[in-house]
Parts: sequence; C-alpha cells; structure tokens
Amino acid sequence: MAVAELEVRLADRINALEESSTLGMTKKARELAAQGHKVISLSVGEPDFKTPQHICEAAKKAIDDGFHGYSPVAGYPDLRKAIADKLKRDNNIDWKPENIVVSTGAKHSLANVLQVLVNPGDEVVIFAPYWVSYSEMVKLAEGTSVVIDGAFENNFKVTAEQFEAAITPKTKVVMFASPNNPTGSVYSEAELRAIGEVVARHENVFVVADEIYEYINFTAEGHFSIGSIPEIKDRVITVNGVAKGHAMTGWRIGFIGAVKWIADGVEKLQGQVTSGTNSIAQKAAVAAFNGPLDDAKKMKEAYQRRRELVVGKLKEIPGFKVNVPDGAFYAFPDISAYFGKSDGTTTINNSDDFCNWLLDQAHVATVAGSGFGAPNCMRISTAAADEQLAEACDRIKAAVARLN
Ligand SMILES: Cc1ncc(COP(=O)(O)O)c(C=O)c1O
Repeated sequence: MAVAELEVRLADRINALEESSTLGMTKKARELAAQGHKVISLSVGEPDFKTPQHICEAAKKAIDDGFHGYSPVAGYPDLRKAIADKLKRDNNIDWKPENIVVSTGAKHSLANVLQVLVNPGDEVVIFAPYWVSYSEMVKLAEGTSVVIDGAFENNFKVTAEQFEAAITPKTKVVMFASPNNPTGSVYSEAELRAIGEVVARHENVFVVADEIYEYINFTAEGHFSIGSIPEIKDRVITVNGVAKGHAMTGWRIGFIGAVKWIADGVEKLQGQVTSGTNSIAQKAAVAAFNGPLDDAKKMKEAYQRRRELVVGKLKEIPGFKVNVPDGAFYAFPDISAYFGKSDGTTTINNSDDFCNWLLDQAHVATVAGSGFGAPNCMRISTAAADEQLAEACDRIKAAVARLN
C-alpha cells in the first residue's frame, strides 16, 4: 500500500498536528551539511555550552550509587525539595515538595498541564509570538487556541487590556513564556502584575507560566514570577526546568509547581503514561538546583554579548525591522520588506520562502516566524560562537542584496 494511503490510517489527532518547524529546518540544514556545504545552523533552540562539571559529577555518582531503578512518579523526594527551595529562593513562590511534579523536560510538563486542565472546547489564550508547540499541545488536549498578537512596537508583548478583551466564558487557560521564545521579550513585574489583576477578576482562568529561560534575562530588573502574586497563586502553574539555564537540554528534566490538586492530576496522568523520569538525570538536577549559579551567569553573559553582536549587525540590513531581545537567545527580525521580491529565479512570498531561500543561497539555517504565530518574522538563534554569528549575519546581508 502506498505511504499516503497508510498515513490516512493515523488517528485524526496526529493528522491534525503540524510538524515542529524548528526541528524541520534543523533536519534540512543537516542534509545540506552532509552534502559538503558549509552550513551555519542557527535554527535550534539549544545552548552551545556543555553542562557544568558539578552537575555531570552528580550524575556519575548517581550511577555508582545505584540509582538504576524506577523513581517515584512525581520525582525523587530530594529533587522535589530542591525545586521547592529554588522556587522560594529565586521566584518568591512558596510551594512544598508535594506541589512539585518532575517530568521529562518542560515540554512534557506543559503538555501534561494542558491534558489535565483542558476539556474539549475550552479556550486557551496564547500570547503570540509563541513557542511552536503551544498551539499543537492545545490541539492534542482538544482545546481551542485563542491567539493574541503582541505588537512589534511593544517589543512583541501582549498587554493586560488585550488579554482581558480575549477572555470569554470558555476561557480556561492563558499561557506564555517570559523570557520568550522566539522574541526574547521579557514581561516586567508591572506588566505581569497587570495581567495578574485580570486573572484575579476572572476566577475560572488558570495561568501556565513558562519560565524555562528564567536565567537568561538581561534586564536590570531581573526575573519576576507571576506565580508569586498571592491573590492568584492557586491558579498559576509555574513551569520550568534545567534545559536552557543550565545547558542540559538532553537530560530531559522539567517541572511544575502548582496547587496540590493540579499536581496530583499531573502525577496521575504521568503514572499511566511515562512514570517517573530518568533517575540519573534527576540526581544531576538536584545538583543543578542546589548548586552554585556561576556557570549559568557566565552563559548568560555570553548570550548578552552575542545579542549585541547580532542585533547590531541585523540592524544594518536594509528592510529588516529589529527588536532588542531582553532575554533568551534569539533575535526575531521582521523581514516582511522582502516579501514579493525575487532574485530573478525565486520569488519570496512569505517567511517560509525567505528562510528556505536563505538556507539554499547563503547556507544559513533559521526558522520562519509562521510556526511561532508571527508570519512576518524569522528566528535566529544566538546560541552559537561569535564568529559564526558574525559570518551568518554577513551572509544574510549579502544574500538579501540580490533581492529586487
Ligand atoms: C518556551 C519554551 N518552553 C519550553 C521548552 C522546552 O524545554 P525542555 O527542553 O525542558 O523540554 C522550550 C524549548 O525549546 C521553549 O523554548
């Protein structure tokens, strides 16, 4: 039977899902590199640093100490305690270990929370631009995404007024990341308090606060957690992990801090689907949460330096509209000035065309804004060596000069 005929036998929920655009672009870049092209890959959302040594040592010790069996579904008690301590220390959020559930990456935590809270037809308000997986996770939970756009002029941030206007009797959840992927925007304490006031007025609405880029924040004010606002504490699910701040993407540790009935719901789901996550990675994560943050700080400084480099160079490219990201490791220029232009052979109609053309012509892999709910933009990861970033920007500038 032909592949296409077999594919239609997939469940509707899978046929309805989009492929992850970030992973798709990375795959294409790898294929070009395998053909011998000098590809600069700025498409993945992954630190280019190694996991700090003290964390690796804790993992080696966990192996030697025999942590080889199943762990409790919600995570080892010492890890849940380390996370509760971290939330108190860094985020001013008071949760006990029983409020923490550890999962296989923050991605898994987010998907779990949506499965646990969203009924078919419930609305989930998503602040756009948003991380590619949010809308697909909502689909899997049979919810309806209600996407609100943050204006470029407001550094891509959604205002409390915009948010309140989107709330209906069906609204169950609002979700957003700060610092943000793909824009690097950071919601200030004042902005989050204003959003918190809206949530306080709508007692059926829950907040999923994705704080995975918490440690990569360049603002003088620093990180503020909406979960620390007492009036709405029981309706905020704080999601975080070790992937970005501690350079541990492959270890797959994420967590939620939430009111106990939600934490129990996630534990119940996880108990039937995945069980406790990797035992060795959990012990490494204990070292990450309890240990020094010097490495995290050094990495942040490197990302900040690269931001200056990339934003400076992108601003020199005619037609690019460039925001200044306050955190994370992405630049997100508006490239729509090139829509409708052509190099004589290929016409660029949208951000997907632009990014594919750039990969073919300049061998620079980026990700189209369309998957992030921002079709005028493209995402450039700044988690790469300074020289690579500089060369990539030069190649982009030279390539677009050929578009008329
Ligand atoms: C905004 C955002 N949330 C969550 C995640 C997932 O993190 P993890 O690797 O811990 O699953 C990512 C990863 O790219 C992300 O960008």
